[in-house]
Amino acid sequence: MNQLQLTVNQVFIDNFKQEPMIVRSPGRVNLIGEHTDYNGGFVLPAATDKAAYLAINDSKMETGKWISIDMKESVEVDFKDLKSFPNHSWANYILGVVEQFEKRGMKVPAFNCVMAGDVPIGSGMSSSAALESAVGFAINEMNGFGLNRKEIAKLVQQAENEFIGVKCGIMDMFASIHGKENNVIRLNCETLNFEYFPLNLGDHKIVLFDTGVKHNLVESEYNLRRLQCEEGLAFFRKHFDDTIPNLSQVPLAWLQASRSQLNPIVYHRCQYVIEENQRILSACEDLQAGRLKDFGIKMTATHEGLRNLYEVSCPELDFLVDSVWHEKSVLGSRMMGGGFGGCTINLIKMDAIDELYTRLSINYEQKTGIKLKMYSVVTANGTEIL
Ligand code: GLA
Repeated sequence: MNQLQLTVNQVFIDNFKQEPMIVRSPGRVNLIGEHTDYNGGFVLPAATDKAAYLAINDSKMETGKWISIDMKESVEVDFKDLKSFPNHSWANYILGVVEQFEKRGMKVPAFNCVMAGDVPIGSGMSSSAALESAVGFAINEMNGFGLNRKEIAKLVQQAENEFIGVKCGIMDMFASIHGKENNVIRLNCETLNFEYFPLNLGDHKIVLFDTGVKHNLVESEYNLRRLQCEEGLAFFRKHFDDTIPNLSQVPLAWLQASRSQLNPIVYHRCQYVIEENQRILSACEDLQAGRLKDFGIKMTATHEGLRNLYEVSCPELDFLVDSVWHEKSVLGSRMMGGGFGGCTINLIKMDAIDELYTRLSINYEQKTGIKLKMYSVVTANGTEIL
């Protein structure tokens, strides 16, 4: 048994004198296909062994107590009057999910819960989606609401969109809920059809370098990118074809023909999205055919697009990518997730990782004053009851 599982279990029993149900829900990485999910494109995430752990059970009362071990804090929640619960950093993630069940007509009985996790917060590995997915999965199971995994992922995304106010796509929660050990998920975010691809990286590993920064623009800039993409899509619908389902499917030729009419910023955002969606599809073919070098080159091209066209990178991320991409042992390197901080994702030859990390840490600390953290990624199964 994992230590976190033991801890949430024990704290639950100590507090509530009752056996809990324990749910584990992982953080994710994304190999390629960034900022494509809310544009109806493809993504290529995998669930990791770093996860949120939730011990939970009915309180059999009208109130519940929620304990966060990581935050060393607990809150009492009155389920008769959830609306009056004050705005609260981590409890919001649980409340938002409860609210979505209730909006669907599923009354959630009061529950107690204890949570802990080892998904590094602010690293871009989606610690919040991991927690929300654990909560959504657990509420559904405990009450026999009968939602399937896709429906839970959609519910959790809506919780994040409406309660937290981040207009995120579905990738993070989908990956957390559907992950499969040793596999990546190629997800079509328009139809939610997906395929598992075995992750054969030969003598390379997925390694994350954590900038240790999270610029506070993240949420506002993220929502702004969404609006800019919507503006682009509205333009193509008006001038080319009003049935085009999403921006990812807009042909590059339409974009090129619109250069003089589109606002240059919107033009660049659209260019990135359309190119990235094509890139991920050919990157998947590379992966399946074992052309790892080509795959890595595409990852690095994604970074260029995110930096220059989509403008969601930051100096710390750029420094990490620029420092490694030309190394012989590195197949590809790019920022991962929403941007403005968090991690870079890298494919690195196993026997070179330690030496590269040592060198990079020294340079990074000299440049930024921040200690560089590294996570070597192990893929794992998605949300499950332990
Ligand atoms: C964040 C969001 C995801 C996705 C990525 C960028 O992680 O939560 O939905 O948009 O950014 O690919």
